[in-house]
Order: sequence, then structure tokens, then C-alpha cells
Amino acid sequence: MRSGPTTGAKLRSGLMNDDDLTTILNALTEPVFLVNTDRRITMANVAAEELFGGELTGRNLVHAIRHPDALDSVEEVLHGKTRSEAVISMSGPVRTTYKVSVVRLDNGEDAEGGAVLGLHDISHVLEAEQMRSDFVANVSHELRSPLSALSGGIETLQGAARNDPEAQVRFLGIMEHEAARMNRLIDDLLSLTSVEVNERVRPSGKVNLRAIVERAIAALETQSKASKKPIRLEMPNGECAVLGDEDELTQVFHNLIDNALKYSRDNSEVIVTIGERDQVTGLAGPATTVAVTDQGDGIPVEHIPRITERFYRVDTSRSREKGGTGLGLAIVKHILNRHRGRLLVDSEKDVGSTFTVCLPQDAPAQSP
Ligand SMILES: Nc1ncnc2c1ncn2[C@@H]1O[C@H](COP(=O)(O)OP(=O)(O)OP(=O)(O)O)[C@@H](O)[C@H]1O
Ligand SMILES: [Mg+2]
Repeated sequence: MRSGPTTGAKLRSGLMNDDDLTTILNALTEPVFLVNTDRRITMANVAAEELFGGELTGRNLVHAIRHPDALDSVEEVLHGKTRSEAVISMSGPVRTTYKVSVVRLDNGEDAEGGAVLGLHDISHVLEAEQMRSDFVANVSHELRSPLSALSGGIETLQGAARNDPEAQVRFLGIMEHEAARMNRLIDDLLSLTSVEVNERVRPSGKVNLRAIVERAIAALETQSKASKKPIRLEMPNGECAVLGDEDELTQVFHNLIDNALKYSRDNSEVIVTIGERDQVTGLAGPATTVAVTDQGDGIPVEHIPRITERFYRVDTSRSREKGGTGLGLAIVKHILNRHRGRLLVDSEKDVGSTFTVCLPQDAPAQSP
């Protein structure tokens, strides 16, 4: 915040009164309050009163902050230290972690002084750190299993299978499969990164959804034939234009139809339907929709909110056995975020699932 000429002059000349100070404190979005040497709160801004739910002025500090680390920091400062810091967690509807900065207030020789406390919400920083370290741990874990299968294969080929052509063919097959899995994992990680980098920029090109869906289906034809699960496409006449990135949307439908083929019953049909909806939660206007329906495993309801997380699988061994990296739906989610779209999941265990992509039909935002 920048002080205007009047406030600046008042500050320099020491003429600032309590009203000016309250105005300045209320302009801050983070909770701030002042305590005197009796540990009484002498001033609190609106953000602090909102956080602690009511009038704070006149109350003892321990009635607002009960956390011993924060109270210790205040004691240190009131006993002469210039500043001190503590990290506290507060429970509420959402658990929040704050860094509490306590700074000594010296009001001149005859005034009594005190301390100013500022609370800075660091929950999102801690969350990002946690996500980063979970991500590294997950990637390492995912790479370790194909790598150990590859080293096991090499060892066997050099030893036990050295003179056994049949075993050599078998082990080379396993090694090829594992190497392909590592390749897919790296490709998926790169896709995820490139989508994330562009996530804030909404695509502005007009694309034909019908052609994109047809292309995704064509790419999965071999898989559909091999598993004897035909893919049926139902759509209105016409081209179904939306704003989007052709390659990214192809990847969305590829990942969803691939899942439908992987997790459905043998000899069942996968149905892809292009349609429209007037209203979708989270979207301002009507949407063009593409629904992918399968008859298969289904997803137990408690897993649905988490399936778009990276590496989250309902049945890890089943996904791995099918060569999955657990990144397919995370990529879908990021691409749809970039398109300002939504993914709706409807599923019933042992019946089947419908994944519906909703893309807004509104015009592109005009750049100035
Ligand atoms: N149509 C579906 N039916 C049942 N379960 C599904 C379906 N789609 C996804 N899932 C579940 O959600 C999990 C996450 O899916 P996601 O596509 O992200 O990963 P994956 O299919 O395991 O691997 P990848 O897509 O990288 O090959 C899957 O492991 C599976 O358990
Ligand atoms: Mg998948």
C-alpha cells in the first residue's frame, strides 16, 4: 500500500492518529493486531476480527491466539527482542497454517510500547511443497518398477537364459513391454507439463469437434478390434464447431475412449455421443458435450472425486497390468481447464461409467 502525501507527512511528523492507523490496518488483507505490555489487544484490523470472529480490542491476547509458539514469540518481543516468528495451524472448516510475525513496537521513552502481530497464510505454499515432493516420489516409484524389470531381464539374459532361446524371446518381450511403459510415462509427463504451462491461455482457434472425435476413434480401432469392443459414435448432423486446440482435444477423447476400452467388459460396446446441454454447473452458458459411455467395472463413488489426480488409480495392479501410467485423466482435466470446460463423471460399480466433456459454446474473449 502507498500512503498519500497527507498520511506520509503525518507519519514523518508523528502526527498520525488512531483513525489513520485503523484505516491503514484495514486496508491490509492479512490479519494484523497490536498488543500492549499487559498482553491486551489495543487495535485489530477487519481481517483479524473476521478470522477470530468478533471484536478483539480490549481482550487479552490469549483469548484470540491460544497457540503456545505464537504466545512465546510475543513474550520474547515484549522482553526486548526486536522481532520473532512462529508457525501455527488453526482448525476451522479448512485447516489453515499461518506464519505469525511479531515485531516490537517502541512508542518512545515515555510511552509503554508493545508488539504488532501479523498473520500470513502459508497453507498454499506448504500444500505446493507437499504436492511437489509427492509428485517426485510418485514419478520415482513409477519409474522404478519398469526399471527393475529391465535390469532383472538383463541379468537373466546374461545368466540363466544365456543358452535358452525360448527364455530369451520371453524375457525380451517383457523388457520391450517395460521399456514401452517407461516411454509412455515420460510422454505423459511431458504432455502434462506442456498443458500446465499453457493452462492460463484459452485456445482461440475454431475446431470441428466431430472430426476430432472421429480421429480419436480411428486411432483406437486396432485396440477396439483386438478387445472385441466396438465403438459407436452418435452425433447430430453438421460440424459441431468449438473453440479449442485440435491436438489437445484429440488427446482428451483418446484418453477417455482408451479408458472405456480398458475398463469395460469383454464384448461390450463403447458409445460416444456428441450433444448439447443448456446448463452445466460451473459454466456460464450452453455447452457442447461429448459423452463416452462404457459397460464395465464402474468406479466406486468414493473414488470419483480423486480419479483426475496424478497417479491415482482405483485398482493399481489392474491399471499397471494394462500398461496404464495413471496420468490419463490428469491430462484430461488440465486440458479441459485450459478450454474452460468441465468433466462430469457418472459411474456405477459393475454397471459402467459415462465421462462427459462439456465445452463452452460462448465466443472467444476479445483481446484489447
Ligand atoms: N471408464 C472407466 N471405468 C472404470 N474405471 C476407470 C475408467 N476410467 C478411469 N478409471 C479408473 O481411474 C483411474 C485413473 O485413470 P487414468 O486414465 O488417469 O489412468 P490409467 O488409465 O490407469 O493410466 P493411463 O491413462 O495413463 O494409461 C484408472 O486407473 C481406473 O482405475
Ligand atoms: Mg487412462
